[in-house]
Amino acid sequence: MKILGIESSCDETAAAVVEDGRRVLSNVIASSLEEHKLYGGVVPEIASRRHAESISGVVEEALENANCTMDDIDAIAVTYAPGLIGSLLVGVNFAKGLSVATGTPLVPVHHLRGHIASNYISTDIEPPFLCLVVSGGHSHIVAVKSYTDFEVMGKTRDDAAGEALDKAGRTMGLAYPGGVSIDKLSPQGDDTAYAFPRPRISGAEFDYSFSGLKTAVINIMHNANQKGEQINVADLAASFQRAVVDCLLSNFEAAAKKHNYKQLVIAGGVSANSRLRADAQAMCRKHGWSLHVPELKYCGDNAAMIAAQGYYEYCDGVAANPGINAYATMPLDNLTY
Ligand code: KG4
Ligand code: ZN
Repeated sequence: MKILGIESSCDETAAAVVEDGRRVLSNVIASSLEEHKLYGGVVPEIASRRHAESISGVVEEALENANCTMDDIDAIAVTYAPGLIGSLLVGVNFAKGLSVATGTPLVPVHHLRGHIASNYISTDIEPPFLCLVVSGGHSHIVAVKSYTDFEVMGKTRDDAAGEALDKAGRTMGLAYPGGVSIDKLSPQGDDTAYAFPRPRISGAEFDYSFSGLKTAVINIMHNANQKGEQINVADLAASFQRAVVDCLLSNFEAAAKKHNYKQLVIAGGVSANSRLRADAQAMCRKHGWSLHVPELKYCGDNAAMIAAQGYYEYCDGVAANPGINAYATMPLDNLTY
């Protein structure tokens, strides 16, 4: 079964064709990242305009690269939540039009379920497993009970890990996205140079909080600037990255232990982080657990992961109603369409 995936929740316009949820036949991504770099973050209005300009060409290219026409496509899977509303609407409306024009069923896909599914195209993992989903907007610990049955066990109370890395990077004067810059710079720094706290949420074992860590970096930079002191940015980046990764993994480890998961998975843009991948690997080795991570090219936003999840949702009978809308927020374990 061939699924055409369409993704436009942030600044990547993406389309892909995936067979049976696992085999990627094509994967096309047009990104407006370079333009957003000028502003130090994604500008929603610019992202929406670029989606509108690129989407038909990107979808056409994905079909061509897969050697397909719409006649070969069994269903269209589209990201409908969560994300930037103007961006999401471009993908959803395009997919709706294509579905009506070609008589192809339309399947709405939650973006974070898509990130989790990036592991289906990169590895042979099958549910049940425990997944740490870390992206620019979300930090979740998710019990993946089946391909379409999820339970969020922990999540951030404020900033997502990616958002904290991006803001910290910007404060340190590093290029956007800060998460990528901090990852690149950290090996040159001493990760014990700065003592960051390891925030915990009382009464909610597996929830996160990253805004305090972010503020700590901002304070260090501002204090140094006011006193005219030089900061070793590599040391600061390495120490901050270590603190973020320690926080992410300590709750993930505790959740796996408590709920007896032995298959662990990471997903989302931040799952490309080399320290997170290495430390997660070491943690799993210590406990005799298996760790699955997406290939680097499927960590960031792409449509292959949406097509992969779309396949399982379609097989489970999920179909969009004709009035399907896009939503800026939506819990991944309790969908409304
Ligand atoms: O999943 P994603 O591409 O988009 C969202 O759904 O948000 O995640 C983007 C986030 C950004 O915060 C970016 O800084 C972070 O992923 N990111 C990284 C790395 N690559 C991307 N963070 C740390 N290390 C990386 N190598
Ligand atoms: Zn994403």
